[in-house]
Amino acid sequence: MVSTTVLCERFTNEIAVVTLNRPDKLNALNAELLAELDATFATLSADANVSCAILTGAGDKAFAAGADIAAMSEMSTEQARAFSEMGHRVCSRIERAPFPVIGAVNGFALGGGCEIALSCDFLYASDKAKLGQPEVNLGVMPGFGGTQRLARRVGIGRARELCYTADIVVAEEALRIGLVNAVVPHAELMNKARETATKIASKGRLAVAQCKRVLFAGADVPLDVANALETQSFAMLFGTKDQSEGMKAFLDKRKAAFTGA
Ligand code: COA
Repeated sequence: MVSTTVLCERFTNEIAVVTLNRPDKLNALNAELLAELDATFATLSADANVSCAILTGAGDKAFAAGADIAAMSEMSTEQARAFSEMGHRVCSRIERAPFPVIGAVNGFALGGGCEIALSCDFLYASDKAKLGQPEVNLGVMPGFGGTQRLARRVGIGRARELCYTADIVVAEEALRIGLVNAVVPHAELMNKARETATKIASKGRLAVAQCKRVLFAGADVPLDVANALETQSFAMLFGTKDQSEGMKAFLDKRKAAFTGA
């Protein structure tokens, strides 16, 4: 299948750049785009070369301005349920990818667009970015995990305020509340994302993947259980070539040559 609504390129062999690609509709998320995004991350997740991915939106205005309102306007309850389930499936796929996903928010990230962004490991924003969950303006609510992931990212009080008021936050405010990790000039956004992806890709891939797995799996379980997950992954890494190479390189006072094995 040739994907048109989602583009996937390689910056390097280890770094994938995935672009939501319906710029004339501000990358609004319809069923076709969601299916292509799901397939793209399924393929990347099965590729052992991938150490990091960047997710962004095509054009100069939007990461994604939401789920496609034209497509949703005629949906029945059952169709809406299936659409929400599809959105959840895609967000979960991105969130569980065995490599970090950096969201590069290059403009509007509203509604479903904000929810897709929230499934990334962390976000960088252009100084033109605007984020929010404005669904109540349309008589609906977030349906791709926004109520849950937004609360986990910025705290329940701020998530409640954003979901109830439909307020849109500009980049600096998003930074202040912890929704994004950094704000950079618009033209610098992809450079910043590529720079961090390159840094991540230079580390032990299996170690980074285990950090991601435990940070995710540990977030919603009691601390003792989460710590036990950490111990399991920590120990497991001692059976890898990267662990012996990483530690040997330190002792030899040289840069480690990780192989992801
Ligand atoms: N669903 C479907 N189409 C959308 C869309 C969405 N969520 N957001 C934007 N578009 C389309 C517009 O309909 C327009 O299409 P057209 O040129 O065929 O008329 C095109 O994208 C450009 O959008 P436009 O509204 O003209 O751009 P703008 O710069 O004036 O406004 C926004 C930008 C983001 C403020 C405005 O598009 C908007 O409010 N979008 C909806 C945001 C939203 O409620 N998202 C949550 C959905 S659950």
